[in-house]
Amino acid sequence: MAFQKAKGTQDLLPAAIGTWQYVEAAARELCRRYGFREIRTPMFESTELYQRGVGETTDIVEKEMYNFEDRGGRSVTLRPEGTAGTVRAYVENKLYSEPEVAKLYYIGPMFRYERQQAGRYRQFHQFGIEALGALDPALDAEVIALGYDFFTSVGLKGVRVELNSVGTPEIRAAFRERLLAFLEPKRELLCKDCQSRMDRNPLRVLDCKHDQAHFEGAPSILDSLDESCATHFDQVRAHLDAMEIPYTINSRLVRGLDYYTHTAFEYKAEGIGSIDTVGGGGRYNGLVADIGGPDQPGVGLAIGLERTVLLLESQQTELPETTRADVYVVGLGESAAQAATGVAKRLRGAGLAVERDYGGRKMKAQLKSADRYEARLAVILGEDELARGEAVLKAMASGEQQTVRLTELEAQVITQLKEMDAQ
Ligand code: HAM
Repeated sequence: MAFQKAKGTQDLLPAAIGTWQYVEAAARELCRRYGFREIRTPMFESTELYQRGVGETTDIVEKEMYNFEDRGGRSVTLRPEGTAGTVRAYVENKLYSEPEVAKLYYIGPMFRYERQQAGRYRQFHQFGIEALGALDPALDAEVIALGYDFFTSVGLKGVRVELNSVGTPEIRAAFRERLLAFLEPKRELLCKDCQSRMDRNPLRVLDCKHDQAHFEGAPSILDSLDESCATHFDQVRAHLDAMEIPYTINSRLVRGLDYYTHTAFEYKAEGIGSIDTVGGGGRYNGLVADIGGPDQPGVGLAIGLERTVLLLESQQTELPETTRADVYVVGLGESAAQAATGVAKRLRGAGLAVERDYGGRKMKAQLKSADRYEARLAVILGEDELARGEAVLKAMASGEQQTVRLTELEAQVITQLKEMDAQ
């Protein structure tokens, strides 16, 4: 074959797209209920936005971004995540001047140059939400609840919420020293990744999958919180309890992006190879100001849609049935084929999904095609029927046939489909 898709990308073919549309519809419906409105921001932004927004020492900025110079000599980057762009749009369009909290959501592709594996791609899709303009811990809890509801509403089981507080940058700086004092004597025992993280971002060391045995007795960030951080954390928990959202506290959860303050959380599930995180988020009170906006707080999350779809498959979740066609119009002969075009147009106008033949095939082949489309009704138009101003209506499941006047065809089709729905 001459061309193949780029490594780490996927073609989402029509046969699988139903699952994607189902998942996206669930996301949009939940956003409607929780009052989040859609925002669509560009797929590329200035490289500097991500350097400042996501953080210079993160894996994303250090080694995963698709950066390129455009023809005007500007350095731009395919968005690796949605928060920085959404916050940039919030600032640039002065959404902060509106009296209510800005509750925004997005669904779309993100790009990270990562090693391909099950559940990890270079172009992937996120459903994300961002709520800007309030410090209220109820907002953190509602963001977490929306994500939790998303997984249950698509029918997934066993998705767990892990919760932590990462405090403020000052608290993290003090905790970093305590943690380094604990880790330094063990440096040689730790894996290469941990050793390099100790120098760049020691909090992430505790996240390591291999070295957990060495971390017994490590200091916990939760013991380092000041009173206002601890109160915020307690209140988030109280709001989660009020909504009966189950969660566990994981004081080692730090997330891979630099902008978090206070609340940090992840959704975990088994069933996608070695990956167990399907979504995550947290509060980011300094980010808006960091990228040049007013001092407005924010909180949000993002869920990986490939991972959601993989989980639905691994749990063999039953999705609502969708048929490709309500009606198949069979036209036999040239003038009947033209009449079929007219009939199909009118039925589509009435809101029905209509298929037809595109090759002048014989009756038997056209009815076979109707079966492939899972049509519930066939409208059969032959030259003789047409001459009499009639058509035959065939119920595909029972095989029952009925002759109807062409003038009443549309009404008859609708009545019969309704009767089938009621059965
Ligand atoms: P993140 O944890 O980097 O957070 O990504 C969120 C989710 O996107 C992950 O849990 C995962 O499901 C999915 N994901 C990330 N990378 C890949 C990949 N290479 N292939 C497939 N799926 C992937 C963020 O992006 C933050 N912006 C979330 C946020 C919003 N925090 C506050 N607001």
